[in-house]
Amino acid sequence: MAQKKMSGEVFLPSKEVIEKAHVKNWDELNKRAQEDYEGFWAAEAEKLHWFKKWDKVLDESNKPFYKWFVGGTTNIAYNCLDVHLTTWRRNKLALFWEGENGDFKSYSYYYLHKYVCRFANILKSMGVGKGDRVTIYMGRVPELAFAMLACARLGAIHSVVFGGFSVEALHERLEDSKSKVLIVSDGSYVRGKVVDLKGIADEALARAATVEHVVVVKRTGHAVNMEPGRDYWYHELCALPMGNMGCEVEQLDAETPLFLLYTSGTTGKPKAILHTHGGYMVGTYASLKYVFDIREEDRYWCAADPGWITGHSYIVYGPLLTGVTSFMYEGAPTHPYPNRWWQLIEKYGINILYTAPTAIRGLMKYGDAWPQRHDLSSLRLLGTVGEPINPEAWKWYHRVIGRGKCPIMDTWWQTETGMFMITPMPCVPLKPGSGTRPFPGLIMDVVNEDGETVKPNEEGFLIIKRPWPAMMRTIYNDPERYVNQYWSRYPGYYLTGDSARRDEDGYYWIIGRVDDVIKVSGYRLGTAEIESALVSHTSVAEAAAIGLPHELKGNAIHCFVILKEGVEGTPQLADDLRKHVGHEVGPIAKPEHIDFVKSLPKTRSGKIMRRVLKAKALGIDPGNLSTLEE
Ligand code: WT7
Repeated sequence: MAQKKMSGEVFLPSKEVIEKAHVKNWDELNKRAQEDYEGFWAAEAEKLHWFKKWDKVLDESNKPFYKWFVGGTTNIAYNCLDVHLTTWRRNKLALFWEGENGDFKSYSYYYLHKYVCRFANILKSMGVGKGDRVTIYMGRVPELAFAMLACARLGAIHSVVFGGFSVEALHERLEDSKSKVLIVSDGSYVRGKVVDLKGIADEALARAATVEHVVVVKRTGHAVNMEPGRDYWYHELCALPMGNMGCEVEQLDAETPLFLLYTSGTTGKPKAILHTHGGYMVGTYASLKYVFDIREEDRYWCAADPGWITGHSYIVYGPLLTGVTSFMYEGAPTHPYPNRWWQLIEKYGINILYTAPTAIRGLMKYGDAWPQRHDLSSLRLLGTVGEPINPEAWKWYHRVIGRGKCPIMDTWWQTETGMFMITPMPCVPLKPGSGTRPFPGLIMDVVNEDGETVKPNEEGFLIIKRPWPAMMRTIYNDPERYVNQYWSRYPGYYLTGDSARRDEDGYYWIIGRVDDVIKVSGYRLGTAEIESALVSHTSVAEAAAIGLPHELKGNAIHCFVILKEGVEGTPQLADDLRKHVGHEVGPIAKPEHIDFVKSLPKTRSGKIMRRVLKAKALGIDPGNLSTLEE
């Protein structure tokens, strides 16, 4: 397709890849989607099941509260499972799973449907129905997917809390969502050790008020506290009559809330991003099918955690909607040895691997010998997400894991966008480090402070100029913040919070966050969460957190702490503070380094100037200091 010569280093797709791909001509598809945007999405929606068809594809009457497939009724869980049961896919593997300790489980579409129905009945018996919130806090196990789909089947709203979060993070999310039920596993295996999830949940529950029942899934089998009348073993409930395996599906309006997913924002506490059944279903279905070029015989592996949006959209919902066979692995990539992933790919014949730059860099550091010891020839496509991938890691991934034959889908998107937004497709020429162009039909731009498009290769704010089906609908309980944070800076346009540049070929290059969000190993954390965890320690008066570049993690957290009168800043205390943050927020939030300081740079209105701290730590010019108080 590339008639004109492109700038920079370009990897052209092979003839073979193009010939077999769903989309052979990206420009043609994009042109079609641009010219008839609603028609494009309607055509995708028609490939899914609707109990009643929509009257209107996109309703823009109450901007920025957009609605999609208005008047239609559907259910995403029905489209994930039931629709396949009348076809040969009934007997196809939907999901197979390997535990870190080598355990194995597999589920056909038929069987998965049964498990989900049974779980839905259990929730029903606890009084869960349409609109009720259910929090899910587990390791990477199949039951997590059952629980999500069971909620969806009933029209209840799930809120998955990443198993790497800890007490205060879980408490905050239970409280904000006012969850009626908590589904938790007793523990999870991480690098051979048991993480006591139920213990953490008990601590969080002691601080929270709304949870009536707790369903405990046995994974590790270590001793846990079970509170009579509140806590129930999942396997025991399954054996009781409410654990029967037939469950009527709820026919839901397309705009019915599907889930909340908490994520860090510019200021304050994590906010609950709300997604709905109809639009999210259409967006995740079409994007996965086209970008990862899903084929019936594929074995697809998204190695992210279901507790993040990547897992929601591309481990649970997207794959089941497309009817693909999907693999889930519980543990760390390097346990017990750095070849664990390569072993899994060889053993199970994985065709598509989707992971994050931080994992690639982490594996790359062990050298080429580990992957080269395995037959990775089943791999056809690779993917990356979460943060910018440095060209060096991209090329290693391409050369060593993909044997120079697998196109890499560098997908840019967010919890808020629900689906891939800037992404290649296999037929597109690739440039290492760039996600290429927006998904067909989307309109994005890079603009300056005044909202004017910047020149090619100039840095600016990344914005989205048109609504899309899988977009967030609001911030749960805080519609005002939804409007202010995303739609006010450039009225009518969605502010991503990222800075980017666009080159002469129209390819986008993400630079990074322009707000107080820090991406640590691809995980999104807010400075406010880390700071409030520090301040909750008895020795701390004030704290500031910043992200500094880190070779493996992308960014690492550095903190500046003012201690209370009379407290001495010893190395022991610094260590205690790191542990305290780990306990309150989660291990991923543990600061790399803590500096004890006497004061912090602030604006006259009292806001900490993290930019100044960052410049100082990096030894660069802090820029405009006119608002600095002293
Ligand atoms: C932020 C969103 C969407 C799944 C995981 C992250 C960064 C995401 C890329 C990419 C460069 C990326 C952005 C974005 N990001 N993908 N391919 N290249 N940066 O979801 O936790 O909501 O984070 O992740 O900064 O704003 P999230």
